[in-house]
Amino acid sequence: MSYAVEGCVATVLAVLAAAWLFRPWRELAVPTIERVDPEQARPGWQGKLRPDPAPPVVAEGRIFCMDPATGFVIDTLEADTPLTIHAKITAAAEAQSALRTASWPKRRQFLRTLRAWVMRDMETLARIACRDTGKTAIDAAFGELLTTCAKLNWTLSNGEKVLRSETRSGNLLLAHKRCTVVHEPLGVVAACVSWNYPVHNMLGPIISAVFAGNAILVKCSEHVAWTSQQIILGVHRCLAACGLPTELVQLVVCAPEHAESLTRDPRLAHITFIGSDRVGRAVALAAAPQLTATTLELGGKDPAVILPGTDLAFFGSMFMRACFQAMGQNCIGIERFIVPRNQTDALVNVVRDRIAALRCGSTLDETRFGTHRPGADAVDCGAMISDARFAELEALIDDAVQHGARLVLGGHRMRHGRWPLGYYFAPTLLTHVTPAMKIAQEELFAPVFLVMSYDTVDEAVGIANSTPYGLGSSVFGPSRTTCHEVAARLECGMVNINDFGISYLNQGLPFGGCKDSGYGRFAGPEGLLGLTRPKAMTEDWAFGIVQTSIPPVVDYPVRDTAKSWTFLHGLVRLAFGTPIERVRGMLGVLRASM
Ligand SMILES: *[C@@H]1O[C@H](CO)[C@@H](O)[C@H](O)[C@H]1NC(C)=O
Ligand SMILES: *[C@@H]1O[C@H](CO)[C@@H](O)[C@H](O)[C@H]1NC(C)=O
Repeated sequence: MSYAVEGCVATVLAVLAAAWLFRPWRELAVPTIERVDPEQARPGWQGKLRPDPAPPVVAEGRIFCMDPATGFVIDTLEADTPLTIHAKITAAAEAQSALRTASWPKRRQFLRTLRAWVMRDMETLARIACRDTGKTAIDAAFGELLTTCAKLNWTLSNGEKVLRSETRSGNLLLAHKRCTVVHEPLGVVAACVSWNYPVHNMLGPIISAVFAGNAILVKCSEHVAWTSQQIILGVHRCLAACGLPTELVQLVVCAPEHAESLTRDPRLAHITFIGSDRVGRAVALAAAPQLTATTLELGGKDPAVILPGTDLAFFGSMFMRACFQAMGQNCIGIERFIVPRNQTDALVNVVRDRIAALRCGSTLDETRFGTHRPGADAVDCGAMISDARFAELEALIDDAVQHGARLVLGGHRMRHGRWPLGYYFAPTLLTHVTPAMKIAQEELFAPVFLVMSYDTVDEAVGIANSTPYGLGSSVFGPSRTTCHEVAARLECGMVNINDFGISYLNQGLPFGGCKDSGYGRFAGPEGLLGLTRPKAMTEDWAFGIVQTSIPPVVDYPVRDTAKSWTFLHGLVRLAFGTPIERVRGMLGVLRASM
């Protein structure tokens, strides 16, 4: 007797131990990858200076990579052609079958390997981005590192919950059915991303696409081909270390005229595009004949509505970062400060001296990420990606001044004493701007602190909604009720109350806009599910025991049409009626079934 009990206990324990040992939910070990450490991003590296004027970025199949802060030539890379793009899609499609069936722990292992890489080599990654875009270490820390880690953290913590098959209850008629939604991978997807955050904009779509089970081609901007190549190297090392095929993630960098080889390819199931609304429309048109789904993340002209009584001195630091983060080359940077007319001077007083004190330069050469080069100034502001839009910016500012705006600071390109080949634009303060001015309507993507004054809150909301765009926004004010009222009236995809851009640090929130800012969302459950195809599935709960059959009264050929009508009439009432209708419906069904 006792032997039998002991035997049972031992068996149960053995089964439990075996289950624990081979537990399918256990996390896999995180492998270590070799460093990606290009010499061009090392402190003190100096390259050959580029010719002046600068050669085109893409010419004759080559991409000319240069540091916009110094003019150093970083590298020359080969551009993709329609032929190589085609081959990359083929390879991605083949590799995707390996991922389709990969377990959640396996997918998480890849993300955790990426995270270990980003955590260990944070500074190198920031330096790579600084070298290629001319941004500062602090801009890189905010825009490349914090954001990427937030995305990894959210996807690791929530991705499986969001993508797991879910059971949905039906109605009374389906009580015997189990109804499920399976979120299947799409296959091969593409992301065409902008240059402003080359590390994050590349890793972000890769994290989501691979976790959802897709292969992905990332088309980077030719301006950041070099950074993108370093990142893809690291990603490939992470994939290989996890035993996944490196072909799952492909980098495409090509001349603009070859981009349609990617966007028109019928093998793509989804395209995420981040960039201007002009190019976004072209991508949607290229994708339409193949019915390829698109998510368009286009321009913005984000307003900050500053309500009467806002503590301007307190929020001054926030306003500065909102405008000058990445020198305004920020999708959700604040492009318009909308302030009560009688607080306009107070706002100008808060920011004028701080803007005047901003120092432009090359973060990699003036500082060593924390340790100053002896005798050098700290750098607040980096370079612009190129000088291609400088003339246009200056013309917009001139136009505004001619129409009554006041230029308090800056307003023009800047020749840097130490880096004459760098692309610098003077931090600018422009006040008395009205919605009718061109500068109040067009996305600047530049370090321009634009002040617009209003008399009533209604007018402020009108100004905020007066552009074709509707991406992000901020509302500043002392009253929570008023802030919420204004937030509800803003036509946009994101609102931050008494803050700026912070919604992006919660990667559980959907990112995207409305109007000319595009449609669809990335980030959050919305973004992750957007990279999957829902498949609706039903089956009997008691599979093989209780099977669904057609009731004889409605079976073909119908024996008695009056009876079958009574039956179905009763059935509709029984399933969907009020309690009394249900009782009557039940009687009808019983009568017809006799
Ligand atoms: C994400 O961050 C939160 C808190 O910051 C932490 O509790 C959680 O464990 C993190 N998730 C993962 C998967 O590391
Ligand atoms: C600005 O004007 C409003 C209404 O006209 C008034 O309530 C407020 O006190 C004024 N604020 C300042 C700082 O003068």
